Amino acid sequence: MKALILYDSRSSTGSTEAIIDAIGLSLAESGVYVEKAKCRALADYSFVGEFDFVILGAPVYNFVVASQLLGALIFGDLKKNLKRKKVALFLTCGSSQSTAAVLYLPQLKMHLIRNKILVETIFPPDVLSEGDAVEIFVEDVLHQYNKSLKSRGLSAKWTQEAQEWFQSMPSFMQGKFRTMAEEYAEEMGYKEITLAVLEEARDTLGGT
Ligand SMILES: Cc1cc2nc3c(=O)[nH]c(=O)nc-3n(C[C@H](O)[C@H](O)[C@H](O)COP(=O)(O)O)c2cc1C
Repeated sequence: MKALILYDSRSSTGSTEAIIDAIGLSLAESGVYVEKAKCRALADYSFVGEFDFVILGAPVYNFVVASQLLGALIFGDLKKNLKRKKVALFLTCGSSQSTAAVLYLPQLKMHLIRNKILVETIFPPDVLSEGDAVEIFVEDVLHQYNKSLKSRGLSAKWTQEAQEWFQSMPSFMQGKFRTMAEEYAEEMGYKEITLAVLEEARDTLGGT
């Protein structure tokens, strides 16, 4: 299993770097091959495709998630290269969990609506000196990742509405479309194939 930690921080000796190293160590101890890379907004992120899942992490400065990671998602090609990847998210910040969940996590999640998010969490800057929150995060990520693999092969059920829409397609397109929709639902961990899932599959697999 190969994991990539993509992160950003203004400080090379700050809390985020220390948390990244602790996550990396914990993953490596669990037998995962892990690499870390510091984000640059306009870097080439085509290497992301080599990894099974990606952990995105960054601090918050002045109410905004660190700019190189956000910039890579907004202006760079990170979002494109994360397409259909399983991701886990963490932020380091001084705010409470509830504040950060409302104010800061959405700044990342709004760019990841087509990704399966395995785990998301907020770490206080001193998390490493307080208990084992980082190890628990890593355990959760691995558990959710393995669960998503196990759920493969369990075909999602089609809703009545989606079935009807599917039946209205020209018959020569139906075979290929059914396979595509079912594979997409499986990959995203959807248990039901609804009209919204079909649209999402079409946009994701057909568009950029
Ligand atoms: C200039 C600056 C601005 C910050 N702004 C916020 C903020 O708006 N909200 C928040 O919750 N934490 C804020 N913090 C706290 C940081 O997110 C927190 O200390 C984080 O762990 C810093 O990561 P680093 O050590 O990798 O730089 C700020 C810290 C600094 C230094």
